[in-house]
Amino acid sequence: MKIESFIRDIQNFPKEGIGFKDITPLLNDIEARKEALKLLVGKLNGQKIDKVVGIESRGFFFGTLLAQELNAGFVPVRKPRKLPFDTISESYELEYGSDTLEMHIDAIKPGEKVLLHDDVLATGGTAAAVCKLIERAGGEIVQCNFLMELDFLNGKEKLKGYDVQALIHY
Ligand code: PRP
Ligand code: MG
Repeated sequence: MKIESFIRDIQNFPKEGIGFKDITPLLNDIEARKEALKLLVGKLNGQKIDKVVGIESRGFFFGTLLAQELNAGFVPVRKPRKLPFDTISESYELEYGSDTLEMHIDAIKPGEKVLLHDDVLATGGTAAAVCKLIERAGGEIVQCNFLMELDFLNGKEKLKGYDVQALIHY
């Protein structure tokens, strides 16, 4: 089964000139979703994972499925002021301005093996900030995996030294 055919291209969303990769058809189809999950799990080659970190919001879908499949805990990284308990936070630069992501301080224990997951790797700013959060908590990043990677934006450059995997490359 080709999971690519379950990614829908939307032109001019969320802004004029942007081509958006819509994963909702993939989420909606039981067999395609199972296949994508199996392929993501396969990228780990059997390495043990204690925690899966999923990035709000589109990283939550497969992040929780991965955690279930890998028998690991799930850790949500969220946008500011969404998490109720004490947090650590990291800010990162955007084209205009900056953004911040937060994680609960007790979500990852020192030495835990962590899988970072998000739907798409674009410029890499988001994932790089989350790598910092995980390492500040003492977690060991085993892999960063994504459903999609926009190769032309060179997000991998910001994730040097990590095992970066994606199912579909554009
Ligand atoms: C998108 C996407 C990734 C991030 C990738 O999230 O889901 O999380 O941008 O971009 P980068 O590699 O250039 O940092 P967005 O901020 O649009 O939020 P959402 O997941 O809540 O839709
Ligand atoms: Mg996102």
